[in-house]
Amino acid sequence: YIAEIDASDTEKGTYPHFMLKEIDEQPIVIRNIIQEYQAQDDAIKLDVDIRQAMKKADRVYIIAAGTSYHAGLVGKQFIEKLANIPVEVHIASEFSYNMPLLSEKPLFIFISQSGETADSRSVLVQTKALGHPALTITNVPGSTLSREADYTLHLHAGPEIAVASTKAYTAQIAVLAILAVDTARVKGIDLSFDPLQELGIVASAMETLTDQKEEFERIAKEMFETTRNAFFIGRGVDYFVVQEAALKLKEISYIQAEGFAGGELKHGTIALIEKGTPVIAISTQENVNLSIRGNVQEVAARGANTCVVSMKGLEKDSDTFVLPQVHDLLTPLVSVIPMQLLSYYAALHRDCDVDKPRNLAKSVTVE
Ligand code: AGP
Repeated sequence: YIAEIDASDTEKGTYPHFMLKEIDEQPIVIRNIIQEYQAQDDAIKLDVDIRQAMKKADRVYIIAAGTSYHAGLVGKQFIEKLANIPVEVHIASEFSYNMPLLSEKPLFIFISQSGETADSRSVLVQTKALGHPALTITNVPGSTLSREADYTLHLHAGPEIAVASTKAYTAQIAVLAILAVDTARVKGIDLSFDPLQELGIVASAMETLTDQKEEFERIAKEMFETTRNAFFIGRGVDYFVVQEAALKLKEISYIQAEGFAGGELKHGTIALIEKGTPVIAISTQENVNLSIRGNVQEVAARGANTCVVSMKGLEKDSDTFVLPQVHDLLTPLVSVIPMQLLSYYAALHRDCDVDKPRNLAKSVTVE
């Protein structure tokens, strides 16, 4: 698979846009990551210094921006649930050292596709000045954040050209899952979850999704063709994915979109729901499935144009789309694919510049 994405691969080939090509590359990237992080004996292969740094940490601070921040929210779940280390996730530009560090032995993890985001870098500079260890997870070897950190984990996703990040997001989540499981094992925590094996299942599930583009184009036309705003709702880890979904739609189709915790609607935002307002719900978590469906009914009763994307096993006949089943911890890797494609087709049908949206740069090297 590595041969299929190489560093010089900066052409669209037969694709109309880089974004669509990069969405399609995600199964290959996941298989690349499996190959890169798998040892001969099928164990996890990870730099021993990183292993030690994670083992020593009594608290992890994840620092990132935009889509990488959204990947960090999912990564927090992995590191806390699997490696039993408390994690704080901070938007880089909002992080301040004025707050007390609740930790004797913190480890800072910088997630950045480009490795050049100024907001993240300025936190890294302060982190190093204070003598705290820093790990950068990035798609660009030799980037500033990679060079200036103590340790680096690479995404092996190949060049990501479209401004809207897609394959880097899923690659970041995959690498964070591997890192969390490796740390758990080093700490002697016994896990049944084998990320390398489960990621193989994810790659196949991604392929079935990217083979259904016509379906997502149809849903995008139905949901977004004439709208000015849109809501994505979810609970638990789906709440993190709907934030990424909203960013995707916003940044390339210019539709005002919001990713929202389903349970929060009744605390104010439901006032915005009116006839025809598009509301997309993601439901992949059994423990909140009925609750988020209750939220869908609430907004539908107020005239919303609803779309439910559910996980096989939790589906109802009325659902718009049912995702192929993957391990419960890895559902973001499949639930995000329809969100990426819906945004792509919404932008396409609104004649927006999909790869180079207005006002945006691929790497934000200014604060
Ligand atoms: C994502 O679609 C955006 N283009 C943007 O939010 C991006 O994720 C953010 O600027 C962070 O970039 P980085 O991952 O290179 O640090």
